[in-house]
Amino acid sequence: MSEQNYAPLLEALKKFKSNRIVPFDVPGHKQGRGNLELSDFLGKQCLAVDVNSSKPLDNLCHPTSVIKEAQQLAAEAFNAKSSFFMVNGTSAAVSAMIMSAVKAGDKIIMPRNVHRSAINALVISGAIPVYVNPGIDKHLGIPLGMSFDDLKNAIDNNPDAKAVFLNNPTYYGVCSDIASIIEYAHSRNMLALCDEAHGTHLYFGENMPLPAMAAGADMSAVSLHKTGGSLTQSSILLSSGTLSDGHIRKIINLTGTTSGSYLLMVSLDISRKNLAVNGKSIFRKVLSLADYAREEINDWGGYHAFADDIRGRYVYDFDRTKLSVHTRSIGLAGIEVYDILRDEYDIQVEFGDLANILAIISMGDSALEIERLVSALQEVKRIYGKKDISDLFDHEYVSPVVAATPQNAFYAEKKYLPLEKSKDYISAEFVMCYPPGIPVLAPGEKITSEIIEYIKYAKEKGCLVLGTEDMAVENINVIA
Ligand SMILES: Cc1ncc(COP(=O)(O)O)c(C=O)c1O
Repeated sequence: MSEQNYAPLLEALKKFKSNRIVPFDVPGHKQGRGNLELSDFLGKQCLAVDVNSSKPLDNLCHPTSVIKEAQQLAAEAFNAKSSFFMVNGTSAAVSAMIMSAVKAGDKIIMPRNVHRSAINALVISGAIPVYVNPGIDKHLGIPLGMSFDDLKNAIDNNPDAKAVFLNNPTYYGVCSDIASIIEYAHSRNMLALCDEAHGTHLYFGENMPLPAMAAGADMSAVSLHKTGGSLTQSSILLSSGTLSDGHIRKIINLTGTTSGSYLLMVSLDISRKNLAVNGKSIFRKVLSLADYAREEINDWGGYHAFADDIRGRYVYDFDRTKLSVHTRSIGLAGIEVYDILRDEYDIQVEFGDLANILAIISMGDSALEIERLVSALQEVKRIYGKKDISDLFDHEYVSPVVAATPQNAFYAEKKYLPLEKSKDYISAEFVMCYPPGIPVLAPGEKITSEIIEYIKYAKEKGCLVLGTEDMAVENINVIA
């Protein structure tokens, strides 16, 4: 592990700074001198290393020196063969992973509760999804994981599929039995791809669910910026080497920038070092904070801060760093609690959906912040709580009726209709609440009255509903 103490990109940038190079290249702010307000706001140190690729600093599109070294160290830290630094979020990593594995006409088996970036990749590539419905917890109102049997059936019924795609964990913390699923997929010559946007810490903490690379996945998209401490938008795509690095890089470069941000890349390098060296103790603390908060919240009754207690057919394991709290049991939608926490208590949680809130507990938290959240939740219950309405609204996940491939629907001749009048048409657009960004409707899916009701209800409760050309999501493009 000693090499993990080294951060090659950090060292290269430090050297670059000390060399006092006179820049006649982009970016035009020239280390902040040309934009003083920006420089004052972000700090001179920061703008001094907001630079472009150059010989000593390597090039993200074609890494041969310090970026290559940093990527190699990241690969080792994550138990992968290679890694690719991503500067356009895990969305780009997920899309690149899918487009590396499948092309137009190829089938890919995936749960339907995937992030929009996975379906975006199908719109771009023309690959065909075989959706497997996740389990649903009707009481909590959340989609769960996938059962091995459902996945096995999908694989058996689609022997021509090229890949299986899995979430590890879901936004709420639910993990499927990825090791068994991956093993079965491989036995049927399918690639196994994982979206680990919410799973960076699984690679470094103890007593955590199994991460994808250890479970034998071929590729995984890992959001270091979410729980790994790097800057927003920075992410890593991991590969076990089944597909060639050259092929994956070519796919990333199809839509990637040619001006990779060194701020983002060096944040990946520094965070990888920190995780590899200090990850165990960091996540021991994170887990104990999350466990403490969960116990306190559950002790009062009312809320349900769920974790291992929901294990079952569709919940093989649970990521206990996620503080997922069911709120409809105190008579409030998650989004209502989310709004109250922000507006009345200056507390920002990750998201509130129709029935739950999710607070991300991470390396930046201390007992003090946890205490603030816990006591605010207690007060919210006392002041705003009403009678349990858990069973009033059926569930958060609406099973899709797929009538066309995402690509065909997206590019089809369209008709623009009021959402109210769109029942039984096939959507040519996405609709989702953000976060979590899981489509309620994806291109190619039939619009049902259940979906229309769901969208209306989510808007009424204050969820940020988006995805359609119409920013107000009152109209929708459907296949003509
Ligand atoms: C499951 C999942 N995958 C992928 C992403 C995309 O990550 P990013 O926002 O870094 O593009 C998200 C974002 O929330 C996500 O929840």
